[in-house]
Amino acid sequence: MSILRKTMETIAHVMPDRVHGEREEQQHRYIGQPVDRVDGREKVTGQAHFSAEYPVDNLLHAHLVYSTISKGKIVSIDIASAEAAPGVVKVITHENALPMAPAKPFSIQGEISAGSTEVAILNTDEISWDGQPVAVVVADTEERAREAASLVKVRYEAGQGMNSFEESIAYAKEPKDILGDAPEVIRGDADEAVRQAPHRVDLSFTTPPYNHNAIEPHATIAWWDRDTNVTMYDTSQFTVGTSASIAQVFGLKKGSVHLIANFVGGGFGGKGGLWPYNQLCVLAAKMTGKPVRLVLTRAGVFRSVGGRTPSQQRVAIGADAEGKIVAFIHEGVTAQSTDNNFPEQFSFPPRHIYSMDAFRIGQKVTEVNRVANTFMRAPGESIGTFAMESAMDALAYELKMDPVELRLRNEPERDPVSGDEFSSRHMREAYLRGAAKFGWSQRPVEPRSQRDGRWLIGQGVATGTYPVYRMVTAARIRLNADGTAVVQCAAQEMGMGTATVQTQLAADLLGLPMEKVRFEYGDSTLPAAAVAGGSSQTVSIALAVQECAAKLIEQVLRIAQKQKESPLTGVSASGVQAINGGLYRKDDGKRGESFETILQRTESASAEAEAKGGAPMETMKYSMHSYAAQFCEVRVNERTGEVRITRFLGSFDTGRILNPKTAVSQFRGGIIMGIGMALTEETMFDDRTGRIMNASLAEYHVPVQADIPDIEILYTDLPDPKTPLGAHGIGEIGITGVAAAVANAVFHATGKRITSLPITLDKLM
Ligand code: MOS
Repeated sequence: MSILRKTMETIAHVMPDRVHGEREEQQHRYIGQPVDRVDGREKVTGQAHFSAEYPVDNLLHAHLVYSTISKGKIVSIDIASAEAAPGVVKVITHENALPMAPAKPFSIQGEISAGSTEVAILNTDEISWDGQPVAVVVADTEERAREAASLVKVRYEAGQGMNSFEESIAYAKEPKDILGDAPEVIRGDADEAVRQAPHRVDLSFTTPPYNHNAIEPHATIAWWDRDTNVTMYDTSQFTVGTSASIAQVFGLKKGSVHLIANFVGGGFGGKGGLWPYNQLCVLAAKMTGKPVRLVLTRAGVFRSVGGRTPSQQRVAIGADAEGKIVAFIHEGVTAQSTDNNFPEQFSFPPRHIYSMDAFRIGQKVTEVNRVANTFMRAPGESIGTFAMESAMDALAYELKMDPVELRLRNEPERDPVSGDEFSSRHMREAYLRGAAKFGWSQRPVEPRSQRDGRWLIGQGVATGTYPVYRMVTAARIRLNADGTAVVQCAAQEMGMGTATVQTQLAADLLGLPMEKVRFEYGDSTLPAAAVAGGSSQTVSIALAVQECAAKLIEQVLRIAQKQKESPLTGVSASGVQAINGGLYRKDDGKRGESFETILQRTESASAEAEAKGGAPMETMKYSMHSYAAQFCEVRVNERTGEVRITRFLGSFDTGRILNPKTAVSQFRGGIIMGIGMALTEETMFDDRTGRIMNASLAEYHVPVQADIPDIEILYTDLPDPKTPLGAHGIGEIGITGVAAAVANAVFHATGKRITSLPITLDKLM
């Protein structure tokens, strides 16, 4: 009997159906509860100020002029008519721009830095991509700045750019490393082993470039104080990094740039760095001596902020008669711009997912004259799982084996490449529970065997995976005698629920009601947080908050014990608990004192502690990942090739869930982004010129409400013993595996394996 069938039969008995919202045990009052967002009311009532919305007096407005060639030189730039246009205050070009140091490359270790490109923006006549800013026009209104920008005339001497990704592949080279990991990992002779295997697949895939389209376009308001300090409201998901980079670029002292980002309207990786817009807004403020606002147009976001790299990938798998993988090859190429260094890690997923004997897994990189590629929700893993999981699906058909069964048979005991122990891995449970809920066992085996009139119906499944990262982050908690607490961290809230979850945590740790705890964030002057990236922020802050709370409790206990008659006399910190707004003995819960009573004995009537989470050593010792089983049902119109998603279920294994409400929203958001990636999104470059042809939401199609069915979410909610709170980050796992699940469902519906994203109708006709 198959593992799948056997387990399916008993699943109802052995596994309680812990659909979101239900938990078995309750150690915390708030953590684990579906608490409403603490910033929800402010957002829906319009009281939340996003970066461009702050009222600032004497505000000027800036608009960028973009290069229309992808490589070459500026021969001349005529700004006379722009300068003469109504309301124009200043036109800045490479001829009059103050010198700026090129931003140091993005770094979260050592010297923090957020640079995205090494191009000397506006300090050079050299052009490296179509869309590189060549002038900034500053005027008294946004409309006048925009109008005057259209009057700037630039003459270029065009050079020979590498505009085509396909052409660039001939010059592909091995990167030095990929995010610090080896560009290629090899064991045995995988090529020979694939050739010898009784069952094998060998498929090639392409994925296009994708662009960031957060609802809020990138924007900054900046002003200078004398020549030494800058204040900026910026759409940043890395307040500490962006402010450090602005200081470095303008030669200012550390800490002299104050960046505020209280609300960010979606980031997804696109707001992690210094980009031309925020740097040039600060320049314009300096050169006009006034506060300046710069809001990118949607086209401006496409042309001057990077997105996901295109890729070409090959996956070849050899399996024995039982479906055990004997050899795995995953190789290919991504592109990066001539001025950045980010080989997107599509070859990471196969390094951790299936047991295999021989393997060759690696990737190369090429250079193109395009805007620098950057982080975009699960960079690497989202495109890598498309190729890996499409190939696994093909292998299942080749073996005449159920695709879920094939995955279960290849579950590794330890990390298949490093040999490390997994910190926590319940992929089997995620698969089985997902399959049961989705009704997988009712699916007919044969492709093209379900139809409803002209609609062909199919179901597909794929694995999703994303690493567990943690970054060094600091926090501070102040506890007041009135029983309120303020938690501070420079962290970013882009809609994920960061503020809500950290408030839940601090309230639990201090024994306070959530209403008495305020989380302050989005400000570079607060204790340093790492980038809100790599799905790492929640656990990174949580560790710091836990350490702060522990320190604070010790401190408050010491204050209490100064009073001889205190009921807390004679106990150590481990003997007390923070509960009901005070400290009480664990051996006698009635004996203790309220924070109010204790803190009134201090001069400031408050206590404060700051702490920093240590380096993430656990990630060096264990193979730490999140997992997903993504189930999809599609209908494909036989005549038009139109694909509609009719059902989607994501079953996740991501450690403990801290807030089911915000978590489910994160999972769904990732899946929706994955559906866009699978079916409609694609940044189209004109290979003759290097110009983006569809730089608008009218022509770059993100999914809309009508494209998305109800998405069902399940999760194992099994704590990872090696992470703070047992939690994993969940911002990125949702998108991984989705494109493959859709493509596999399309294959099941039509019998056509689409290996090039997006799956548009022309490919199905
Ligand atoms: Mo994410 S792509 O690390 O914001």
